[in-house]
Amino acid sequence: MRQCRVGWIGFGHIAEYLYRGVALTEQLPPSCHMFTLRHPDKGRRLAETYGIQYERNLERVVMESEICILAVRPGQMKEVLEPLSKLKLFQHKSWITLLAGIPISLYTHFLGEESLELARAMPNLGVSVGEGMTSLCFSKASSREFQIFTKLFFASSGKVEELPETLMDVACGLAGSGPGFIFKLIEAAAQWAHKRGMPEPQALLMAAQTMLGAAKLVLEGQKPSELLAHIAVPGGTTEAGLTRLKALKLDEGWKEVLEEATLKSSQLGSVHS
Ligand SMILES: NC(=O)c1ccc[n+]([C@@H]2O[C@H](COP(=O)([O-])OP(=O)(O)OC[C@H]3O[C@@H](n4cnc5c(N)ncnc54)[C@H](OP(=O)(O)O)[C@@H]3O)[C@@H](O)[C@H]2O)c1
Repeated sequence: MRQCRVGWIGFGHIAEYLYRGVALTEQLPPSCHMFTLRHPDKGRRLAETYGIQYERNLERVVMESEICILAVRPGQMKEVLEPLSKLKLFQHKSWITLLAGIPISLYTHFLGEESLELARAMPNLGVSVGEGMTSLCFSKASSREFQIFTKLFFASSGKVEELPETLMDVACGLAGSGPGFIFKLIEAAAQWAHKRGMPEPQALLMAAQTMLGAAKLVLEGQKPSELLAHIAVPGGTTEAGLTRLKALKLDEGWKEVLEEATLKSSQLGSVHS
């Protein structure tokens, strides 16, 4: 990966998870990264933990970076973009935004900068263990070099899919928010097993490992419907559970969960436009 200076604007939950994943591969050494956030005590603590530079001044982070990663919440976006826009600090920089729901047009409109080189990225928590799922789309003015850098940057912490921007809200519901829903499923499965007498650590391990193994089979190319046909033999235990799952309409409920998160992502875009 091309060595360049990366400036993180906001270093909260997802930025920290992403940095951990990127750091695992050692492709961009800590000296390439600097970050800013609002609370200096937190900044100093994180700088010590990761050995990267904390800088209180937002403008300085942007000035000293080639690639800037925007990692604040959507509601905090204007507070950050306004001073940068006034100082024309968006020019001659490449931008990666992690903000859910905010379309590329909002950045170009807000900054009056059609030539903005910007990637809209939607990573998820898996990035911290090298198993992230990141969706990407690019502004029209993005160079090939920047697109390659961005794909490699996220590929260092998991899988990357480039999508048309119209699918970014779906990607947010499916993968960006996805780990949260999976945690709930693991927790529910483990709670149930614990209630049935299994020690909690064992129950958690078995629930999580079961999800991991099932996911790996699908990632290796087997379709869920084919796997189901093999495993759900008539009169067997899996078939019994699946019959109950169908009666409870759990798969339909699951789709509604994803739809709700997707809807929220699209609303974030319209609220902040
Ligand atoms: N969490 C996820 O799983 C996930 C996944 C994909 C995308 N995202 C997106 O990532 C973004 C960040 O989410 P998060 O969960 O990481 O939020 P978060 O933990 O609240 O982090 C926000 C960060 O922005 C900093 N910040 C806020 N205003 C600032 C300002 N004016 N100047 C400099 N720094 C400022 C905060 O600093 P202080 O800590 O000092 O307040 C904090 O470090 C959101 O837009 C979200 O949509 C999140």
